[in-house]
Formats: sequence, C-alpha cells, structure tokens
Amino acid sequence: MIQPALPTVKLPSGEAVPQLGQGTWRMGENSRIRKDEIAALKLGLDLGMTLIDTAEMYGNGNAEEIVAEAVTGRRDECFIVSKVLPENSTRAGTIAACERSLKRLNTDRIDLYLLHWRGASALGDTLEAFQALRERGAIRYWGVSNFDIGDMEELFALPGGSTCISNQVLYNLRRRGIEAGLLPWCRERSIPIMGYSPIEQGRILRDRVLTGVALRHRATTAQIALAWALRQKDMMVIPKATSLEHVRENRAALDIVLSGQDLAELDRAFPPPKGPRPLELL
Ligand SMILES: NC(=O)c1ccc[n+]([C@@H]2O[C@H](COP(=O)([O-])OP(=O)(O)OC[C@H]3O[C@@H](n4cnc5c(N)ncnc54)[C@H](OP(=O)(O)O)[C@@H]3O)[C@@H](O)[C@H]2O)c1
Repeated sequence: MIQPALPTVKLPSGEAVPQLGQGTWRMGENSRIRKDEIAALKLGLDLGMTLIDTAEMYGNGNAEEIVAEAVTGRRDECFIVSKVLPENSTRAGTIAACERSLKRLNTDRIDLYLLHWRGASALGDTLEAFQALRERGAIRYWGVSNFDIGDMEELFALPGGSTCISNQVLYNLRRRGIEAGLLPWCRERSIPIMGYSPIEQGRILRDRVLTGVALRHRATTAQIALAWALRQKDMMVIPKATSLEHVRENRAALDIVLSGQDLAELDRAFPPPKGPRPLELL
C-alpha cells in the first residue's frame, strides 16, 4: 500500500520522523481487545503514522509486545520509541531494561529510548548506559520525558548530555505551561518536543468552544485539539487510539488549518500561561 507522506520533524541528527505518531499507553491491559489494538496500530502505519511510542511500563511490557505484532514485516518503516522506568535507570538497570524491551519488541534496536521521568538514580549513570547502548547499536538515539527546564539544564551540563534528541512532555490545549519556558528553551537548542496526551485523554472533547470551532471545520473536537498542537511544525504529537475510526480521524487532523479566529477563540477558552510554571505530568 502506498503511504501518503506525512509532514516530518527534523531531529537534531538531521533524520526526519513523522510529526504525527501513535501512543500505546493503556494498550496490553485487556487481552479481549488485543486484536483491536494491533489492528489500530497497523491502520495507523498504513496511514503513515510510523512513529510509535511505547514504554516498558505500559501493560507491564504487554504494550511493547503489541507493538511487535503490529510492526511485523515492516519494522524498517517504523520509528519505535520506548522508555526505561526511573526505578530501573541505574547504569546496569537501564541496560537490562533495554534488553528486555528489545526482546518484547522482537527487534534488534529501539530508535529512540527515553528516561520515562526522573527518579532517584544519578542522571550521569543513565546517560552512560544510553551511550553504551548506542555504541552497541541497541538504541539509535536517546532522550528524556517529563523533564522540566532545571532537569534539562542539569542534563546538558553532563558530558554528552546535549546529545539528547527529544523531550516528551504533556502538551494540549488545557496544559500549555511549557509555552512559557520549556518549549522556547528546547527550541533554542533545536531539541524537538514530543507532546503526549494531545487530547487530554478525552477530557476536553465536550468543551463548548472546541465544539464551535469543530463545527466550522466539519471536524470533530479531537481533530481540532490535534490540529492545534500540530500547527507547531517542530513538535511531534502522539495520540493513542484503539478505535479504527479514531485512527482515521487523527490522521485527517493533519489536513485542518486553523484560522486566526479559531486560534483566538481557543486562546480565550484555554489561555496560554502568563509566566513560567512547573511542568505538569500525567
Ligand atoms: N511520557 C509520559 O509520561 C507519557 C504520559 C502519558 C502518555 N504518554 C504517551 O502519549 C500517548 C498519548 O497520550 P494518552 O494515551 O495519555 O492520551 P490521548 O492520546 O490524549 O487520549 C487517548 C484517549 O483518547 C481517545 N481518542 C483517540 N483519538 C480520538 C478521537 N479521534 N476522537 C475521540 N477520542 C479519541 C482514545 O480512545 P480509543 O483508544 O478508544 O480510540 C483514548 O481513550 C500515550 O498513549 C503514550 O504513548 C506518555
């Protein structure tokens, strides 16, 4: 099947990855819908959403196995992101966790390996493990998740810390805090943000203003929330969908261009931050 080209985001390495990807949190938790989850990811791949975000945490490893099934026969088309849990993020623990993830993903490399959030381990130890994993080809790039500016500054002060390729953080209409600090900080250093929970796990979908904008575009509220995040061309966005209809809708959100009026209405309903505030997590 011919894949329609998706807009891409350039990583600091120069490699381009699709701007719109697929999340997998809550996948692998219920064996009765396993087939649906695999089918949804496969449809997403057919539609060009070849960036898949997973983690050892999701479904206790089951989500990674679902990803493995979904990418069978087309691994080379995909850009797989996975994450090490903070409690495993010592030097030896990170390497062991990565080996377990590789086995569940049934692959010889993870394209981007992230520290899921900061824990008690020394950041330098995790970084050393990432570098060792890169040298042996087990991961292609490394990055972080849920890192605020202070964490990023600490990371960048470590040897090799500035080779971090992305920071995956919460970002949607209702969670705009990064606009007043972390987002410009990362932009200045050409570190692309990967925005997670772009539709706030469904909690914003009945909003009155969002509904009004959606009606004007003959779109759904989820599509408007995605189009709003996707208008920032240097940001990757990773909605999770198990429903095939949702997968199709999400792909089509890339075709929506929000007007100045749309953006102004959305700004009034979901105001941008007035000043720096701590990073929110889910
Ligand atoms: N790094 C981190 O700490 C972190 C934290 C949270 C999330 N993430 C990543 O980001 C991904 C996305 O975030 P998320 O899963 O928290 O939330 P999300 O993508 O904002 O929302 C997922 C929910 O929205 C529904 N949905 C998807 N498309 C829809 C559409 N077009 N219309 C209506 N409903 C729709 C899904 O339903 P169905 O499944 O029924 O289709 C699911 O219930 C995760 O899966 C994970 O990979 C990372």
